[in-house]
Amino acid sequence: MDQEIVDIQDLDGVGPVTAGKLREAGFDSIVAVAVAPIRELVDKAGLEASAANKIVKAARRQITTDFITAKQLYDRRQNLRRLTLGSINLNKLLGGGIETQAITEFVGEWGSGKSQLCMQLSVTAQLPNKDGGLEGKVLFIDTEGTFSAERVYQIAQASQLQGEKILEGIFCSRVYNSDHQVLTVDHAFKLCQEENIRLLIIDSVLSHFRSEYIGRETLAERQQKLNSHLHKLTRLAQALNLAVVVTNQVQANPQAFFGDPTRPAGGNILAHASTHRIMLKKASGGLRCARVIDSPYLPESEAFFQITEKGIEDATPKSRRED
Ligand SMILES: Nc1ncnc2c1ncn2[C@@H]1O[C@H](COP(=O)(O)OP(=O)(O)OP(=O)(O)O)[C@@H](O)[C@H]1O
Ligand SMILES: [Mg+2]
Repeated sequence: MDQEIVDIQDLDGVGPVTAGKLREAGFDSIVAVAVAPIRELVDKAGLEASAANKIVKAARRQITTDFITAKQLYDRRQNLRRLTLGSINLNKLLGGGIETQAITEFVGEWGSGKSQLCMQLSVTAQLPNKDGGLEGKVLFIDTEGTFSAERVYQIAQASQLQGEKILEGIFCSRVYNSDHQVLTVDHAFKLCQEENIRLLIIDSVLSHFRSEYIGRETLAERQQKLNSHLHKLTRLAQALNLAVVVTNQVQANPQAFFGDPTRPAGGNILAHASTHRIMLKKASGGLRCARVIDSPYLPESEAFFQITEKGIEDATPKSRRED
C-alpha cells in the first residue's frame, strides 16, 4: 500500500518551487489540489498544463478514486449534518436546519434580517450536535463591514453561552473587493481543515461583484469569475462537509409587471450554484417572513420569525393567531 501523503510537497511532480507556487495560490492541502480544476492551477499557480495535470492526478489518488459507488454517495449523505437556526419555524422550513455539503442562500431587501441570521448561525454552529450545532468553528467573510462582535456576544449570552468563547470560535475576514473575496475563499481550505471550521458565511456574496462590474460589456467577465468562485464554495462544502451560507440582495426587475417586482441578484449563475434559496421579507408587526424559493426537495412554504435582542426567534403573524 502507498504510504499516506499529508503534505503537497510529497506529491509526485511537486518540488519545493512548485509547492511554493501552489501554496501561494491557496492550494495548500492535498484536498485543495485534488478538487481544483487543472485550468486553475495553470492560471493561479502559473504551472504548465502537463505538470498541473500530473499533480492533480497524484492528489486525487490520495483522496479517492475518480469513480465512487452509489453506496459511497449514500454514505457521504449520511455524514450530512443540519445546523439549527435557533427557530423551530425556520428549521422546519429548511427540512430540519441548514445542510452541510450545500450552499444555502438567503436573499432579501435591506433590513430583512440576512446579517442577523448569519450572526445567529455563527453562534449555533458551535453548539454540540445534540443541540443542533455542528460542533465546529466559523469562517465569516464580511464584504460590507456589518459583522458585529458585540451583537454575536449578545446573542451568545442570551442563550447562556460564554460570549467570549463563542467569539474565539469565529474567524472573521473583512474583504474589500471581489479579488480579495476570491482569494480569501481560495485560501480557506487549509484554515477550514486545521481549525475544524464547519460553517462558512459570505455576507454578502455579490456586493463587490455588482459594484465593480458595471455595464453590459463586463457581464461575461463577471459571471465567469463568479462562477468559478461559487464552484470553489461548492467544492469546499462537499469535500470538507461544511455548511456554506451566503446572503444576497434583491434587485429591481422591471420586467415583472405582475407579482413580485424584485428578484435575487446574480442571474442564473448564483441560482444554479445555490442548493437552497430562501427569500426573506419584512412583514407587518416587525416580523420577518422566510420563503423557500428554489430547492431540489424542500416544499415552497413559508415561516415567520422575529429579530429580538436574543437573536432570531419564532413568531406568528397577528392574522394567523387564534385570538
Ligand atoms: N439587537 C437587536 N435587537 C432587535 N432587533 C435588532 C437588533 N439588531 C438588529 N435588529 C434588527 O435587525 C434589522 C437589521 O437586519 P439585518 O442587518 O440583518 O438586515 P440585512 O438583511 O442584512 O440588510 P442589508 O441588506 O442592509 O445588509 C434591524 O432593522 C433591526 O430591526
Ligand atoms: Mg446585511
